Amino acid sequence: MCGIFGYTGPDEAAPLLLTGLERLAYRGYDSAGIALQAPSGALAVRKAAGRIGNLAALMEREPAAGTCGVGHTRWATHGAPSDANAHPHTDAAGRVVAVHNGIVENQTELRARLVDAGYAFTSATDTEVIPNLVAWHLDQGASFPEAVRLAARELHGAHAIVCMHEGTPGVLVALRIGHAGGALVGHGAGASLVASDLTALMPFTRSVTFLEPGQMAVVTPNGCAVSTLEGEPVEAAPRTVEAGEQAAAKGGYKHFMLKEIFEQPESATSALRGRLAFDPPGVSLGELPFGPEVLRAVDRAVLLGMGTSLNAALLGARYIEALARIPAGAENAAEFRYRDPVVGPSTLVVAVTQSGETADTLEALALARRAGARTIAITNTANSQATRMAEGTLLMHAGQEVGVASSKTFVTSVETMLLLAGAIGAARGALDEMGIAELMETAARLPALVGEALALNEQAYPHLVARFLHARRFLFLGRGLLEPIAREGALKLKEISYVHAEGMAAAEMKHGPIALVDADTPTVAFVLRDGLHAKMLANLAAVRARGGPVLAIATQGDTEAAEAADEVLWVPPCPPLLAPLVAVVPAQLLAYHLADALGNDVDQPQNLAKSVTVE
Ligand code: M6R
Repeated sequence: MCGIFGYTGPDEAAPLLLTGLERLAYRGYDSAGIALQAPSGALAVRKAAGRIGNLAALMEREPAAGTCGVGHTRWATHGAPSDANAHPHTDAAGRVVAVHNGIVENQTELRARLVDAGYAFTSATDTEVIPNLVAWHLDQGASFPEAVRLAARELHGAHAIVCMHEGTPGVLVALRIGHAGGALVGHGAGASLVASDLTALMPFTRSVTFLEPGQMAVVTPNGCAVSTLEGEPVEAAPRTVEAGEQAAAKGGYKHFMLKEIFEQPESATSALRGRLAFDPPGVSLGELPFGPEVLRAVDRAVLLGMGTSLNAALLGARYIEALARIPAGAENAAEFRYRDPVVGPSTLVVAVTQSGETADTLEALALARRAGARTIAITNTANSQATRMAEGTLLMHAGQEVGVASSKTFVTSVETMLLLAGAIGAARGALDEMGIAELMETAARLPALVGEALALNEQAYPHLVARFLHARRFLFLGRGLLEPIAREGALKLKEISYVHAEGMAAAEMKHGPIALVDADTPTVAFVLRDGLHAKMLANLAAVRARGGPVLAIATQGDTEAAEAADEVLWVPPCPPLLAPLVAVVPAQLLAYHLADALGNDVDQPQNLAKSVTVE
């Protein structure tokens, strides 16, 4: 979370910083700020609570100039999203500027020490200790880069930081400690940039130096010198990155999220491209740096993720168990990393993360690697940290997802895991040739089925919105492969409509949550024509018997489901393995239409960020 963007070169920095921050807004949008440095070294800071537009308006009212600068878009951790708590922060004397992504875990102790030494604080943030600590080291006689290095060594936690110093014009010092978001240096002609991720650098340059955890870069217009935080120089040659330009236009849709929901058939096609073989049938995952012998040797799979990616991982685990016949489970990455999990060389650990930057998922992945597990990252972001940490990567190929609430990356991550499960099943002999051929044919049907699900129900949403707009609590129920979809449906609704929703296994209802059922609590139930259809109908009856309205997401033409519910959203008949990917579509659209009708900012919902780089 939090986006950082910096520039040093011959041009006016402010417009470039604002452009960079706009591209990083998905990482947090509680406040934004920039610090500019004139060639003389003089610093000027402008910052404003709220979206980047507020900062741009402030810059018009109170212009500032400089050819070197840093900007920050914040997702608040310590301190409310106010002007005072916005980054950049400076030391008490205004000599050192810092922007920061992470949490200074020992800030109480550092702050007390600095206050005792006469350094005054003005904000409630943990970040403010950083420029003050750098200033303290400068006051002890260290050079600017050395002062930043020494300060960094005193910080606990994971961080990405960029600093500027009044007495060292045109120089940015960027560093990374642990996995709290990236720090990348972009190289242009006579100018350098610093950013949290590639998204922000792409309009400016393809020549990039990636800082690894424990490294810092002294950045000038002519390039950067990289060293470890112990002070050892590092050979870090720039890489030319091949990242597609962002298709960051809404293309006629009211919101990016709606556009992205409707892009799902296309994304589903991209995720299949080059991976399905029919003669002989097989899954071709040539991107993996190892062959079927490695997949054959694994005897257990652990799938890790957070939020929507965890819901996707739950499905991935079910696919692997069903198709590869090995024990497979999904786990919240943050819980996994703080246990002492039993994983070893025969365990396959799959980290699911659309951004490839989620701190908890990266730390869990690092733990798995240390334990000797085979590791695969499933991500939508080429060159992200997850791709650099895992042994192998399977890209989701969803295309850029701008909406903070994931939609197409959910579908493509699950789809990718379906193929991975097939590949493991084939390698282990759990799937014979006929089984694989069937899987290939099933997978190939996904884009069209998702397209059909999008085309159904168009008339139904306005009516459902009118009926449920004022409901403040929803329950989502599913069984089997649709249980993770109940969770995902509830998460989508919570994220963008700010209405409480709980998704669960339908059988769980009678063990407690049924107490919540009343006339104002709609239950959304996934009742597809599958082996658990009759059980789901019984669950719906129990809800209706208690006066709870039921919205069924059901297979087209299923009159039993229609009779058992008050409202219905239809999905096309589909193979059981694809049911979750088809049924999620009306759940996404329901959440979208409710949130839009409530007047919420669908693409940038309150309190959220697209990339969660703090623990
Ligand atoms: O980038 P990741 O997939 O690792 O992100 C994980 C979660 O933060 C993410 O899925 C979050 O729950 C989204 N807002 C879901 O819409």
